[in-house]
Parts: sequence; C-alpha cells; structure tokens
Amino acid sequence: MQIDSGFTFVLFGGTGDLSMRKILPALYEAHRAGMLSEHGKIVAVARHAADRDGYIEWVNGNVKSHVSKGGKFDEAVWRGFLERIEYVKLDLGKPEDFALLRDALDNHAGTRVFYLATGPSLFVPICRALASVGLNENARIVLEKPLGYDLRSSNAINDSVGEIFAEEQIYRIDHYLGKEPVQNLLALRFGNALFEPLWRREWVESIQITIAEELGVEARGDFYDNTGALRDMVQNHLLQLLSIVAMEPPHSMDSDSVRDEKLRVLRALKPIDTRDISKIAVRGQYHAGVIKGTSVPAYATEHGVKPQSTTETFVALKVEIENWRWAGVPFFLRTGKRLADRVAEIVVNFRPVPHSALGPTALRPGSNRLVIRLQPNESIRLYCLAKQPGEGMNLSSVHLDLAFDQFFKEGQMEAYQRLLLDVINGRLALFVRRDEQEAAWTWVEPILNEWAASNKPPKPYAAGTWGPAAASAMLAQHGTCWLEEEN
Ligand code: BG6
Repeated sequence: MQIDSGFTFVLFGGTGDLSMRKILPALYEAHRAGMLSEHGKIVAVARHAADRDGYIEWVNGNVKSHVSKGGKFDEAVWRGFLERIEYVKLDLGKPEDFALLRDALDNHAGTRVFYLATGPSLFVPICRALASVGLNENARIVLEKPLGYDLRSSNAINDSVGEIFAEEQIYRIDHYLGKEPVQNLLALRFGNALFEPLWRREWVESIQITIAEELGVEARGDFYDNTGALRDMVQNHLLQLLSIVAMEPPHSMDSDSVRDEKLRVLRALKPIDTRDISKIAVRGQYHAGVIKGTSVPAYATEHGVKPQSTTETFVALKVEIENWRWAGVPFFLRTGKRLADRVAEIVVNFRPVPHSALGPTALRPGSNRLVIRLQPNESIRLYCLAKQPGEGMNLSSVHLDLAFDQFFKEGQMEAYQRLLLDVINGRLALFVRRDEQEAAWTWVEPILNEWAASNKPPKPYAAGTWGPAAASAMLAQHGTCWLEEEN
C-alpha cells in the first residue's frame, strides 16, 4: 500500500493579489472536494503579517469573499482549510530569514512545492536563497508569468533558475492550459476520428483564435503599460492555444510527448518578415467608449498609465505554420482589452464544397465551421447548411450545439485548481517547458522590436467595439471576417 506522506505547499507572495484571488481559493476548492491529502500543509510566506494569527486574519478578510463567490462556501470546511495554513514571516531582502524557513519546514514530510507568486525580478533571488539552505533538493518550483520581458531576460531567468532546479522540477504556469475547455480541445481532436482527417490544409481554409476581454487594465496600469498585449497574452496564452490546435497527435499524454508536439508547431511558425509587419499585425489602443451601457475611460487616462503611452491593448495577427499539415492556411489571432464582449474561442473555417449542384450558397466561405467556445459558456458548435423547409432547394445555415454544462452538471474545475493539483501530484504536461517558451519569444520578438522602433502610435479603437478597423481589413484581404456573434 502506498503511504500518503502529504505535501507542503510553500506560497511566496502569500499576501499578494494572486494568492488572494486565485491560489488560496483554488486550494480551498481542492480541499473542499477532498482532493488534498489530509497531511497536506500550506506554508504562506510574506512580510506583512506579524504572525500566523495576523495572516489568518488577512485570509479571512481577503480570501473568503473570493471563495464564497461560487456559492459553495461552507464555514466548517473553511475552518478545516485554515488549519492547514502555517505562516513564516520572511523578508526576501534577508537571506538569513531562509534558515528560519528551512527550520519551519524541517518536520514536514512529503512533496515540497515552492510557489513564487511574486514579481519575476524576485524569482532568481528566491531560488538562490532556497538553494543556500538546501531547500532546492527534491522540491518543485512554480513560476508565474510573466517570465521575463523578452527572449534575453527570460533566458537569463531560466539560466539562473536552471542552475538550481532541474527542468523537471520547474513548473511554468500558463493558466489557459488549465482551463477545462482547453483540455476538451485535446479530447475533441484526439478522442474522435471524425475531425482528425479534416484537420488539415486540404479541408481547412482558415482558423481564428480570439481572447477578447471587457475588462481594462484594472489596478495593474503600471505593470501593463510596460508590458502590452503582445507580451501579456500573445507570447503565452494565444501561442499555447495555437500550438494545441495545430499540433500532431501525440503518442501519449505524458508530459514530454505533448510538449514535444507543441514545440514542433512553435518552431514551425513562419518567421516574421518585418517588411510585411503592417500586413500581418495590427496593434491598437482603446479610447473612451461604452461597454454594455457603461462608459469607460481611455487607456491613456487609466491609473498608472503614461498619458502619451503607445502600449498596445489590442493585437491581431496573421500567422502561418510551415509544415505539411498547415502550409498556406492563415491562423488569425486576436486579443484585446475593453472589447465589446468577453469571449475566448477558436473558429475552424472549412473550405466550401469544390462544386455546388445546389446553387451558390454552398460555395460561400464559412458555411461549414466549427466554433469551440472556451469561455464563457463552454460549447462546441458545428455550422452546416441545410435545406429550408418547403418548395425548392434553398439552403440556409444551421448548427449543432454541444453545451458542456448540460452534459456534465458536476465536476468542473477552475484552471488554478487543476494546475495546483498537477504540481502537487508531479504532472508536468500542462506546464510550459523552457524550449517552448524560448520558441514563443523568438517568434514574437521581431514584432516587439519593430513596434518599439517605429514611431507610429497604435491604432485607436473605441472601448466597447471589436478593435481597430484594420483588424477586419486584414481578414477581408483573405476573403473572410472575424466571427462576432452573441454569447
Ligand atoms: C492574464 C493576463 O494572464 O490573463 C491578464 O495577464 C488577462 O491581463 C488574463 O486579463 C485573462 O485571463 P482569463 O482567464 O480571465 O481569460
């Protein structure tokens, strides 16, 4: 019989925003669902609380409201969860404090996880301090995004962390990989023979991947203004989604089989020719506007944003993959803040029939398309043409709908919950390997450089719209348009 020796989850940045909104609520959910070992402990590390009582007070004041949002809150379960929490007051500027952390962890058996919910500038100092007291041995380290600002800075972090932790000890988070519907994409593609033969250049005309947000930069204006949408969303979430949509079937679901296939896609992305940049990339910035009846201010007036900022809050790209399966098929990627709706979806547009005996409707692009909605309301919708009832042969568009919440009433899991359980259980498949990250940075970097060097400002768009008109014009050149339909 296997002995359950538990785990110790050490949370750096224990009083930070991410711990409050995502990490501690996800651990609570896992606890509530009975998915955590009864011997599992959470050791929060921070500077602000004086002692454990102070920290628990902070958790009660700040985390409880996020936990109870889903309506599954239970006071007795919550108290049980709090009993798992220990606290170590630690000043990251004082390496000697790490000896105290080591002493505090001395009598904890089982798997050891260090979760760095801190700014990336602290990753290396924390790893070095952990190593100085021997805490890097047999431990797992979780790094939050953003991991670096460009290829060079991300390599510098990876090199330094890599001197202390082996690659299989490093869990780089991209929370999109933990989303249920992204998992479902793998199930759809590799669990059904139906789609796979069509999933290629002969049958697919174009693919769109959109992550649209209604939210602006919230309280993160300062961070965002130095980051922009390309670094914040494209280099990671959108390219990860693209690699899952386009990858070859992996031989198994083990972490390296999946990540090897994703890497092949990232390495096959057609390199950016900066002379073409205006044809394949659109960057925008929102101005004041109205979203669903509420007026919102311009990006440049948001707190923490420079008034003359040229940071992009919207990106649309045309991407090509240079391999046999996808040569010549455009992948259109788009993300933006303060858009008309919150939606993340993948649209696979199939080619029309080669010859129509049923009139011109069957020759229209987009008659057959598969729309995989990641959020909100996870669903898969397959558009086909059908005969309109009555006389004659008139075709019209109909769709088959699969709404996942109608099939599976229970068991949905938040991305962070799944990912944290994966770290605790040593499953790396949903974490980004270093070579994937490098390939993604390598591909986006010419765009970053070109935009930084150009003196053209981003194209304006009114908040509450779908971004600059140039993003639609880019698709129009390929005889297609963004799918924008009601939720
Ligand atoms: C984060 C970005 O990685 O993803 C945010 O830093 C963005 O700017 C967020 O809002 C979107 O995630 P989700 O899960 O809300 O779609």
